[in-house]
Amino acid sequence: MAEMKTAPAGAPMGEKLLTWVDARFPASRLYKEHLSEYYAPKNFNFWYFFGSLAMLVLVIQIVTGIFLVMHYKPDANLAFASVEYIMRDVPWGWLVRYMHSTGASAFFVVVYMHMFRGLIYGSYRKPRELVWIFGCAIFLCLMAEAFMGYLLPWGQMSYWGAQVIVNLFAAVPFVGPDLALLIRGDYVVSDATLNRFFSFHVIAVPLVLLGLVMAHIIALHEVGSNNPDGVEIKSTKNDKTGMPLDGIPFHPYYTVHDILGVAVFLMIFSAIIFFAPEFGGYFLEYNNFIPADPLKTPAHIAPVWYFTPYYSMLRATTGTMVNVLAVLAAIGAVLVIVKGRFGMVAKIAVAVGTVVAIALLMAFDAKFWGVVVMGGAVVILFFLPWLDHSPVRSIRYRPGWHKALYGVFVVNFFVLGYLGIQPPTDLGTLVSQIGTLFYFGFFLLMPWWSQLGTFEPVPDRVTFAAH
Ligand code: HEM
Repeated sequence: MAEMKTAPAGAPMGEKLLTWVDARFPASRLYKEHLSEYYAPKNFNFWYFFGSLAMLVLVIQIVTGIFLVMHYKPDANLAFASVEYIMRDVPWGWLVRYMHSTGASAFFVVVYMHMFRGLIYGSYRKPRELVWIFGCAIFLCLMAEAFMGYLLPWGQMSYWGAQVIVNLFAAVPFVGPDLALLIRGDYVVSDATLNRFFSFHVIAVPLVLLGLVMAHIIALHEVGSNNPDGVEIKSTKNDKTGMPLDGIPFHPYYTVHDILGVAVFLMIFSAIIFFAPEFGGYFLEYNNFIPADPLKTPAHIAPVWYFTPYYSMLRATTGTMVNVLAVLAAIGAVLVIVKGRFGMVAKIAVAVGTVVAIALLMAFDAKFWGVVVMGGAVVILFFLPWLDHSPVRSIRYRPGWHKALYGVFVVNFFVLGYLGIQPPTDLGTLVSQIGTLFYFGFFLLMPWWSQLGTFEPVPDRVTFAAH
């Protein structure tokens, strides 16, 4: 057996204990690698608060969730009343429940900000592709987690929202109806559905989420953080120490820095919990204060705000939109064949592929394509590292019109989000169709437009002014 390291005889108790642990578990090594000797760029700004805030919200959701489960009843006959019981009778139950419901929305606010930071600073680009891909997987899990959690209070919106979304799966060709049946565990949303959603919401998805967050951080610490300049700090190191010249140890510098973000976040979070927990019906929808009634469909069914941009895209995919998509696919193929610098075989493949795609577009129901468009809007994010061909990482050194384009992307996302909350109108549908085309055009045409324009020179070192 290898010799175990031991502390010197007269060493303090703490040192002895740590040496004992370190000989059996890499506590000091992990602490150094991920905190005291993890060198992060010194020019982090506002946008870099959201990673640690996402971790904070994850902890809040898990802790409040544990307490909610102590009193909640996953039974179609008892669920609604058990939530009311938590709100009225359980000591501090109202606080725990509002923390959890507000936490769900806060999670999406924080994660959307976090993703936007990645988008503008090119944090998804080599060598951080896996950091981004784990992030996208986290985002998908988060959506599944929120969707299934929303069924649990068994209110009208819980019930009918789940009904609408699960029915979408029925539109998948050939296996759809069986798939929807498998998800529901019944022919309609029922007690069986509530039980399986409960099981996924409290254990299966959170476990995957925790695993993915660990993978996300491990991947990040393997390659090191990006920064607002998109400059690789590892390329300018201190000759003696071998540490990046523009890096500072995560602990204590960023642990203290992040406390500021946490303090501001908690002020806003508490203000919402104590003064506006329903947040005008956006965080807790009013219809969800009515118990689920399978015989009474609410006049207007809309998902919670964080899903509405995608819901808009789903509703935008009408028969006419599918025809437009077919025409666009044909135009795209002609352009690639006429202008593309590819060999004959590749061009024939594009032509055949497009004919097949158009045939499929025409063969299946628009409802199915709506589901594909909605899912595709998230799936496309996974490919971002390979879509962006810009010579610089950060938005700071990109042409002015790139900045404007990112601005339009954000406005478009908000408009889609707004329209997804509203009841459908002809004008709303038209605007969502244009918005959907813009959303996909932004990503699919990125290999082309991201290289265009005059880029500013990227400095060798990060830009930083002490404050
Ligand atoms: C539960 C959700 C998440 C947690 C707890 C989390 C946590 C973190 C933390 C702590 C960091 C380092 C600090 C920072 O750079 O802000 C980070 C970085 C990063 N995250 Fe996440 N994240 C989450 C979701 C996501 C999602 C959904 C994406 C993208 C789809 C993403 C993409 C990234 C990227 C690209 C970085 C590196 C940023 C850089 O170095 O500039 N994360 N994440």
